[in-house]
Amino acid sequence: MTNKLKYFIGNWKMYGDFSSLKIIHQIQHFCIGFKKYNKKNKIILCVPNTLIYFYATKIKSKFISIGAQNCHHHQSNGPFTGSVSASMLKKSGAKYIILGHSENRSEGDTNQSIKRKIGSALSQKLIIIFCIGETFNEKKEGKTFSVLRKQIRSSIDKKYNLNKIIIAYEPLWSIGTGKIPKVKELKKIFKFIKNEIKKIFKTRYLPIVLYGGSVNQNNIRMLSTISEIDGFLIGGASKSSKKFIDIIKNYYK
Ligand code: 13P
Repeated sequence: MTNKLKYFIGNWKMYGDFSSLKIIHQIQHFCIGFKKYNKKNKIILCVPNTLIYFYATKIKSKFISIGAQNCHHHQSNGPFTGSVSASMLKKSGAKYIILGHSENRSEGDTNQSIKRKIGSALSQKLIIIFCIGETFNEKKEGKTFSVLRKQIRSSIDKKYNLNKIIIAYEPLWSIGTGKIPKVKELKKIFKFIKNEIKKIFKTRYLPIVLYGGSVNQNNIRMLSTISEIDGFLIGGASKSSKKFIDIIKNYYK
């Protein structure tokens, strides 16, 4: 139940400016020297919209891709003040897009609006990083699996191309808290997500499923023992090139 490529995806959230290009340059430099593993890794940095075009034109690296963090659900242009469409992000140079992040769900995104966003981004040939995850209360009440099932079933249409959708399991109680689920729990949850996708889509395709939530250079050793995890969606630690690089190095230690 494992994919060959390992994904290390940074979600910069609302951080970064033009000078942060040096972070990407340092990561790029590391990738060039990390010969033994760089073919096994996929590194993606999802940056604020204001930086996508600038970074995409400056970074010509086969090791690093640039992604966006959200978009409006409407496919074409329209009267949506302050919003950007998937098409605009694609034209700016984004190759990937995070959708369904809990921070956007808490500001109004619903399973239904996320479904429309996924459809719109797929039509622009963006690769989706679709976030799912339960709250602490849902976990306490034993609802983790039902919450995940609902998020998957109501946001991924059966006609969507699964090859273009990466799933990121991010328990809300783990984001920015330093807490991560136990190995046993993660194994169960990852098996559940992969089986659920197989059931819904009646496919033998093995989906790519990432873990996100307080990933750092220390806990990555423990996370690396879980073969079901295909990679990581990294928030806070991705804003430091040293921490981000140490996560990758320690993963292979
Ligand atoms: P942290 O790594 O800061 O917990 O954030 C995780 C996250 O939200 C990535 O999308």
